[in-house]
Amino acid sequence: MKRTHTCGELTEKSRGKKAVLQGWVSKRRDHGNLIFIDLRDRYGVTQVVFNPKDSKEAHKEASKLGKEFVVQVEGKVGKRPKGTENKAIKTGKIELNATSLEILNPAETPLPIEIDEHLLAGEDQRLKYRFLDLRRAELQQNLILRHKVVKAFRDFFDKEHFLEIETPFLAKSTPEGARDFLVPSRVHPGKFYALPQSPQLFKQILMVSGFDRYVQIVRCFRDEDLRADRQLEFTQVDVEMSFVGRDDIIGIMERAMQFVFKQALGIKVKAPFPRLSFDEAMNIYGSDKPDNRFELHLVDVTKELSGTDFEIFNKVIENKGVIKALKIDKGCKTLNKKDVDKLTEVAKLYKAKGLMSIWVKGKEIESQIAKFLPEKTVNALLSKVKAKDSDLVLLVADSWLTACNSLGYVRLALGEKLGLIDRKKFSFLWVLDFPLLEWNDEEQRFQAMHHPFTSPRDEDIPLLDSQPEKAKAKAYDLVLNGSEIGGGSIRIHRGEIQEKMFNALGISRQEAEAKFGFLLSAFKFGAPPHGGIALGLDRIIAIMAGCDSIREVIAFPKNKAAVSLMDDAPNEVSERQLKELSLKLDIEKPLQ
Ligand code: AMO
Repeated sequence: MKRTHTCGELTEKSRGKKAVLQGWVSKRRDHGNLIFIDLRDRYGVTQVVFNPKDSKEAHKEASKLGKEFVVQVEGKVGKRPKGTENKAIKTGKIELNATSLEILNPAETPLPIEIDEHLLAGEDQRLKYRFLDLRRAELQQNLILRHKVVKAFRDFFDKEHFLEIETPFLAKSTPEGARDFLVPSRVHPGKFYALPQSPQLFKQILMVSGFDRYVQIVRCFRDEDLRADRQLEFTQVDVEMSFVGRDDIIGIMERAMQFVFKQALGIKVKAPFPRLSFDEAMNIYGSDKPDNRFELHLVDVTKELSGTDFEIFNKVIENKGVIKALKIDKGCKTLNKKDVDKLTEVAKLYKAKGLMSIWVKGKEIESQIAKFLPEKTVNALLSKVKAKDSDLVLLVADSWLTACNSLGYVRLALGEKLGLIDRKKFSFLWVLDFPLLEWNDEEQRFQAMHHPFTSPRDEDIPLLDSQPEKAKAKAYDLVLNGSEIGGGSIRIHRGEIQEKMFNALGISRQEAEAKFGFLLSAFKFGAPPHGGIALGLDRIIAIMAGCDSIREVIAFPKNKAAVSLMDDAPNEVSERQLKELSLKLDIEKPLQ
């Protein structure tokens, strides 16, 4: 006897019919004469009634049922009595009047976590018992959405003549900027594979080999500190194309996002997406991944605040820094000093030395800096930010990057606090023209902001020799609701420009040869112009599902401490395994 229906299938149309269901007991209510259970599978929930009139045996057996028992029930579909219908679910008008019950497997009680819509257990407890946690409807819906999104991406790229080609997991280190996970080779003692941070070099090689349009939904591995939007292993929708420019890639990715949102959520996404240069994004939103679901723009007030006796401003201006302002409409009414103290902590977390506030109260202003500023200066400032009565102006004076970035985080905190963010919105935008290089203070050298194969803008190539810090890249990031969901670039495909780039990065010929010799060698034999992008699949799905963390859309994620609590990875290995790999540990804690 196999199940005839799922637990989400029976409706009034099946009234009077016989049905066999299998699933988990999610609730049992024993009214003595009548026993009700909610029977659940991934498709839904069906109410089952055990009435001794229908079957004495089944009724007796049902009294033994506990939560999460796996059962098989045979019965007849009946209409629920008036007033007991549940309009919220598809099966809410019927119930199965059981004529037989078989317990396929009991479940231990109490359960380590309740499978309920409401989360009572802490996240670590949920991750430890992920097999139970994954029975929750919310997580099941997230994984169903994930399936739909992946399928939609594959369908889209297939239609557009992309080929999905697998690239190695056991490979050589890729220069994406995070730490590599290393895998020791048994056959070659002392040598290691690196798990790819992305298939970057391989997909470029595939272009050299003529594959023209490549896509891969691929796991990437990065040993970095975990956050809500980061995992050690995560999935990219990785794309590379030949004979294209930036706008071709932007165009195809916009169509991909439109297709995926339509297929998976039934939502129409408007394209083209807005585009901002990196400089504009930083200047206006204080972020290279702006959340443009709400306004509240940063304003540069350096000019208005120059030429005073206020030492702090003067020093910053002397050092080529800037003063940035945020004006909060009616901020004097919606925020108090304590709120501003909290915002100051946010600004300091992102390296600002402080956050200055100006409370506009009628013709008066209240501010710790008022006494340093002539009336004329204050008026010029208020007029520049268009401040009116009851508004609040917040200021950061610092280097351009620190002032923008720290005030950008203050902006986000204000967005949350003042409820400015429209949670139903999906707001895409492109950030373009990133700097090619960034200064690494620790190592006192430039490093590639994206990766060393990203092409500078044609007009900026001469800058590589003279002022490399000024060169902008043919790089682009896709941003959704303030989260970076993708990044890519047009690549360097000519040897002489690659050499200039390595020079700017302080990478010697030998080093380049040792690290990426295979790519450079491939480039000598006819590399087409090419470029690509990789989307962060986990982040996209988390945003689509309305989740704060990508852990909610991954079946078996690591926790914040990089541990998989269910299977207990990472764990120690035996001496024998280490010996086979010619490895010796140099740690204080002995092996168990
Ligand atoms: P990038 O390093 O920007 O580019 O990665 C692409 C996208 O992957 C997502 N992402 C992550 N998601 C979860 N956990 C992580 N640890 C993590 N790291 C990155 C982000 C990001 O935008 N090879 C280039 C792409 C290219 O140039 O074509 C690359 O990997 O959403």
